[in-house]
Amino acid sequence: MLSISNQDFQRLVTFMKKNYGIDLSQKQQLITGRLSSTVNAKGFSSFTEYVDYIMQTRDPGDIDTLINKLTTNYTFFMREKTHFDYLRDTILPWLEQTKKNKVLSIWSAGCSSGEEPYTISMVLKEYFGTKAGAWDTRVLATDISQEVLGTAQAAIYEEESLKELPKGWAQKYFRKTKVPGQYTVAPEIKSNVIFRTFNLMDPIKFRLKFDVIFCRNVMIYFDQETKDALVKRYYDATVPGGYLLIGHSEGLNKATTPYDYIMPATYRKQV
Ligand SMILES: C[S@@+](CC[C@H](N)C(=O)[O-])C[C@H]1O[C@@H](n2cnc3c(N)ncnc32)[C@H](O)[C@@H]1O
Repeated sequence: MLSISNQDFQRLVTFMKKNYGIDLSQKQQLITGRLSSTVNAKGFSSFTEYVDYIMQTRDPGDIDTLINKLTTNYTFFMREKTHFDYLRDTILPWLEQTKKNKVLSIWSAGCSSGEEPYTISMVLKEYFGTKAGAWDTRVLATDISQEVLGTAQAAIYEEESLKELPKGWAQKYFRKTKVPGQYTVAPEIKSNVIFRTFNLMDPIKFRLKFDVIFCRNVMIYFDQETKDALVKRYYDATVPGGYLLIGHSEGLNKATTPYDYIMPATYRKQV
């Protein structure tokens, strides 16, 4: 394993925080443990050469590898089920009553390999049923990593990641592939999700404001200041009465967040 000097460590910490929000200030060991093989594989003999290269070229593929090595893309279908129950029982009935133009705007921010937005798409399909055709229910799904977005768009999953889905959904919303134990997402669920690359540090300039933003298990990498600033941008991009859903192991700063607290991991903008 290579070692990293304090100076190179600080350069990398500053670069990652400024550009991607990711706080590595307590992660010196993780960096050497997880990145030494990448540094060697790129043909560099030291972290100094690697950090110079990353900062000068900012090659998207190399940045992708760096982020993927230092964060986790872990996710699964129907993760943190209470949010999907709340979507079905409270949020969608409210939207169905109030959205006269029948256009919904739901964002999965930090969608990883697609399980979260595809779960949202399945919940929408279940909820609207035969009325779905009258509604525009497309879900925007974004991540900074091209690699996970590639997996999301391929939409092929192992049986294991489907096991939290309600009974019958695997049959209804997936097709078996030729490979035993592998499934692909049904076309009507897949086509309802639009994947885009988006760095959450960038200004939010999507066409519509959002009725619901899922940003779960993403801000765990950000320090408080970065998180507060992102939550403020989310707030400005949320419709009145719209929701922000975060991971259940996370919390927003109750004193400073402009959203109202509804229940654990669930926040709402005033109507
Ligand atoms: C653990 S996954 C969360 C997946 C899903 N939301 C869930 O809760 O299961 C975290 C994702 O955040 C993404 N991410 C980290 N920093 C990001 C940034 N600055 N902009 C956009 N996505 C980011 C990572 O690439 C990763 O795919």
